Amino acid sequence: MQLEDVRALVADDLRRVDQVIVERLASDVVLVNQISQYIIGGGGKRLRPLSVLLAARACGYTGHHHVEAAAIIEFIHTATLLHDDVVDGSEMRRGRDTANHVFGNQASVLVGDYLYSRSFQMMVSLDDLRIQGVMADATNTIAMGEVLQLMNAHDPDTTEESYFEVIYRKTAKLFEAGAQMAAILANAPRPVEQAMVAYGRHLGTAFQLVDDMLDYRANREELGKNLGDDLAEGKPTLPLIHALSHSAPEEAARIRAAIEEGGLDDLEAITRTIESSGGLEYTARLAQRERDLATGALADLPDSAYKQALHALADFAVSRTH
Ligand code: IPE
Ligand code: IPE
Ligand code: MG
Ligand code: MG
Repeated sequence: MQLEDVRALVADDLRRVDQVIVERLASDVVLVNQISQYIIGGGGKRLRPLSVLLAARACGYTGHHHVEAAAIIEFIHTATLLHDDVVDGSEMRRGRDTANHVFGNQASVLVGDYLYSRSFQMMVSLDDLRIQGVMADATNTIAMGEVLQLMNAHDPDTTEESYFEVIYRKTAKLFEAGAQMAAILANAPRPVEQAMVAYGRHLGTAFQLVDDMLDYRANREELGKNLGDDLAEGKPTLPLIHALSHSAPEEAARIRAAIEEGGLDDLEAITRTIESSGGLEYTARLAQRERDLATGALADLPDSAYKQALHALADFAVSRTH
């Protein structure tokens, strides 16, 4: 099953998600509409809403609240992107200039807040205290993850353990919360809910591991983002952490200096070191392990096309080039 087949399986639901997104974006403040439409209009893979829809169906859900739930997750995701691009000083997203580049940092941060708070209004409409609890925890965890990452920036002694803590919080947590929300909506028994939690967590971790590889090895046009953003910000991601301890002293010293100072002067040389020291392979291997853990978590779920699609989504997370 390819990603297009996965999308086709829930095509009607996905269309409804897009409708909800458009309806709920609307504001009477012109700049809010402009920026939110700008970033949403850039597209995006919609992987998180897709995972919510599939998880709900795989748990046997037959209602329609999963559409709202999927839109909520995409709103939160979009809010974090608006904030993240300001924090990371990024200039390209979804194949176009970032919102901060076009409208400025202030407007981006404020519209990010608008999307965040709108998602909470939408959550209230689901009228489920457990879901509200899961999402309150998730957004708080994401915020902590981004702060933790800021603390690790420019620190070449960042450990793998600390890196994994960051990516769990900043990225995997939202996948986890989305899958859990789907299970709660479906009124799934606790073991099934926990299976979904594990699925989302490992899917999200695999997804971010690959994102950190792609920052060194993608095609810019296909990725829709600039390469080297992580190095520019002195971010010790796994490919770099691995290269640091698996390269000759001279090359390791260059990496240390680049992390400490940031900037792209040494991007080419460092990318070569990452390749030759096996940093990308290592990261890919760990991503595959996370993929296996994600699909393994679904073992006891009854077989269905939706379950197969969840497997395919996990495969896409590790094989993707954008
Ligand atoms: C980007 O996520 C942010 C990360 C967690 C790496 P996506 O790559 O899913 O972004 P879009 O929504 O498809 O643009
Ligand atoms: C994305 O982190 C995580 C969040 C937006 C919370 P990154 O900074 O690694 O993702 P990209 O590369 O900008 O998409
Ligand atoms: Mg970023
Ligand atoms: Mg970031």
